Amino acid sequence: MNKKVISALLAASMMTTMLAGCASGGSDNAAATDASTTAATEAAADTESTDAAPADSTGKTVGISMPTKSLERWNRDGSYLQKQFEDKGYKVELTYSDNKSAQQNNDIEGLIADNVDLLVVAAIDGEALSQVLDEAKDAGIPVISYDRLIMNTDAISYYVSFDNYTVGQLQGQFVADQLDLENQDGPFNIEFTAGDPADNNAGFFFNGAVDVLQPYIDAGKLVVPSGQTKFDQVATAQWDTATAMKRFQNILGSYYSDGTQLDVALCSNDSTALGVTQAIESDYAGSNQVLITGQDGDEANLKNIVDGKQTMTVYKAVANEAVVTLDLATAMLNGETPDATLIDKSGWDFDCSYDTTSYDNGTGIIPSYLLVPTVVTKDNLDDALVTPGYYTKDSDGYLHPVG
Ligand code: BGC
Repeated sequence: MNKKVISALLAASMMTTMLAGCASGGSDNAAATDASTTAATEAAADTESTDAAPADSTGKTVGISMPTKSLERWNRDGSYLQKQFEDKGYKVELTYSDNKSAQQNNDIEGLIADNVDLLVVAAIDGEALSQVLDEAKDAGIPVISYDRLIMNTDAISYYVSFDNYTVGQLQGQFVADQLDLENQDGPFNIEFTAGDPADNNAGFFFNGAVDVLQPYIDAGKLVVPSGQTKFDQVATAQWDTATAMKRFQNILGSYYSDGTQLDVALCSNDSTALGVTQAIESDYAGSNQVLITGQDGDEANLKNIVDGKQTMTVYKAVANEAVVTLDLATAMLNGETPDATLIDKSGWDFDCSYDTTSYDNGTGIIPSYLLVPTVVTKDNLDDALVTPGYYTKDSDGYLHPVG
């Protein structure tokens, strides 16, 4: 594993203890993630720096606006980003906005008022930041759209994310492979659960999965007993676990209480998969193991994978997403106009592509750095997550994130 990523991972776990003190944003800030003391100890010994260290970072401040601490991954994103930037001599202002769009607007306004030199923003509602980001533009503050594309503003210069469509394709292909849909007629019953309509990623995930599975639906090999196949019918506001659970309980009560077997619950991410798993545990009459997909590698979901309750997750190494963001921001602040060459110059030891066709935010294509997601199942948990240093494993076989 890249030493600078290890450094980010280990040291980020230290940062989690400091998050509450660094962030602003009301109730959302109360819930800092647990630190790994082992990793924190090791972190102190690791002082490797990135290749693209700027000469003039000292004194510059980066404003980081994260959506919420209530969805696990953003805690990791915030601490990795903070650690990466601080290690290079930047000051960091990190805010979490409690999944409230109005609060995120206020938090970003505060960062602008504090004269940050660059903004990194993961939007709660991708459509709701145009005005405040116009203010950033007027103040000459460049903006990186982090993980979620911010729509309808030309104030953002770059987008850093994973290949979101591929995430969905991996989920769909996993289902096709597990059920051997090329050779089996089924029919197998499937239900879909997608993400937050306010999150531009959610459609990419859903479309990626559906594009793989639609031919099997058309062929009658896959059947959707609820008939809910459109994004708007299966979306989950704010990716909320309880919302996903309630909708799925209704589906089970309405379409499966007569003994109909549910074979697959295609869930776009882990927070929704958690709710669907809870609904299946409480309200499903069948005794078969339902194939359940997810995304992120949230701790509770990895436990469910170990326990055989969730079948897979798509893991996205957000520690690497933070590394890309740092090197991109550094180049921007050094007055460069980053392009595909940033990838070679930075010497990352993980895959990343430079995409200038896929992400149009309504004002034109936003140049994007896209990292590569990985399928994780019970069979490759160690190789994919523990060996690279992203998670530790306890004596019961459960995984805990580092950072
Ligand atoms: C992220 C996912 C995450 C979801 C909910 C999406 O924008 O890309 O990784 O599961 O938000 O937090």
